[in-house]
Amino acid sequence: MGNSVTIIDNRSGKKIDLPILEGNRGTPVIDIKDLNKELGLFTFDNGFSSTAHCKSELSFIDGEKGELFYRGYRIADIAEKKSYLDVCYLLLTGEFPNEKNSLEFDMLIRKRYFLHETLKELFRAFPENSHPMATLSSGVAALSSFYREHLDLCDNKKCGTFDYFIMAQRIISKIPTIAAYSYRHSKGLSLVYPDANRYFTENFLYMLRAYPNGDAEIKDIEVKSLDTIFTLHADHGQNASTTAVRTVCSTGAHPYAAISAGIGALWGRAHGGANEQVLNQLREISDSGNDIKKFIDRAKDPNDDFRLMGFGHRVYKNYDPRAKSLKELQDKLKNEINIDNKLLEVAYRLEEIALSDDYFIERKLYPNVDFYSGIILTALKIPISMFTPVFVIGRSVGWIAQWFEHRHDPSMRIARPRQLYIGKVDRKIEDN
Ligand code: ACO
Repeated sequence: MGNSVTIIDNRSGKKIDLPILEGNRGTPVIDIKDLNKELGLFTFDNGFSSTAHCKSELSFIDGEKGELFYRGYRIADIAEKKSYLDVCYLLLTGEFPNEKNSLEFDMLIRKRYFLHETLKELFRAFPENSHPMATLSSGVAALSSFYREHLDLCDNKKCGTFDYFIMAQRIISKIPTIAAYSYRHSKGLSLVYPDANRYFTENFLYMLRAYPNGDAEIKDIEVKSLDTIFTLHADHGQNASTTAVRTVCSTGAHPYAAISAGIGALWGRAHGGANEQVLNQLREISDSGNDIKKFIDRAKDPNDDFRLMGFGHRVYKNYDPRAKSLKELQDKLKNEINIDNKLLEVAYRLEEIALSDDYFIERKLYPNVDFYSGIILTALKIPISMFTPVFVIGRSVGWIAQWFEHRHDPSMRIARPRQLYIGKVDRKIEDN
């Protein structure tokens, strides 16, 4: 018999052995599916702090050591040696592409950059000052009406790898176009068609920056840096937005509806929306005459809900390896592109002070991926409202790969958690 945990119900003295399941790495989990049947109990785990809700082969996080792997490869190696599209291929298929497959995949993505002309009408319906995240999530949901056939992918028997691969390519290649259109619309700019002669990341910068006549200045170093940022965001275990995608997937809804739900979840300031907040906060600190202590004190005050944005993580109790890669990238870029040194100084100082402060040390609060990404994105001339859409572009492949994994898990059931009811009971409507 394998390892197990014995639970004794002190009310009845009844006991149950629950099996312990071991993955290939990481914390083992207790399989509690018989708990309710045997003891009439559910578990309570606010925010899923101790709950695994699926098995996955895609990414692995060692939160204590501060390590992240995609399909077994260490993130720092991948970020240094591989392009974002090769990372997409890895996450979708399990292996990096050879040279031929890499070229073919690149071509398949390029030919799918374009949107149906009718979809462009959607952007007109949004007020000009709408946040690009609002337009982006709606645009991706709207894609489901253009590719209704992908709903068949939700029927397990018809969910062929070939169809899935096409659906995945559509999502990866069209999200940057919708994101760029969302931004241009929010600024009252004409929409610029994708350019299939350009690599994925260059094409995104082109769509953001180009004049209607096609003029756009894009440096190789900018493409390489943004490509690395996409890679660092490609997948990250069962975070809130991925969980949203898996939850919608479990109901059999259209895959694009699931991705749109993921975009909605990512928007929040506790998740992907933090990158926008970090930059605002760094600017606020800089404008306050670098009064870092005031901000640290507020973050520590239990009566103030202020948080140091870009710090802390549910899983990492060590330096986020993605933040480490971004910090290194930033150091490399310092002499090559126009980094805001004033903000950089504030960020370095803030990190230094926080990491030597007992409050942050005791709670193991380290910089996360969002802490440095905003400074680099600003140096890449990405507008602040596009920081979270950039995260969406990078994460799109992770969401699709997780969707596919969820769809193909034979033990998959509709995601349907329980609750502890604390409302009023047995009330009667009085007759007048
Ligand atoms: N600043 C100050 N205190 C913090 C911070 C922070 N950024 N993060 C956590 N804490 C404190 C909490 O107040 C709490 O203190 P307490 O034990 O005295 O009550 C303790 O650390 C634990 O915090 P929780 O909120 O319980 O941790 P949780 O795992 O639920 O939250 C989260 C993680 C949401 C990332 C949190 O650290 C946070 O809000 N950070 C700021 C926002 C941010 O940077 N988000 C991006 C995360 S990365 C990503 O999603 C891409």
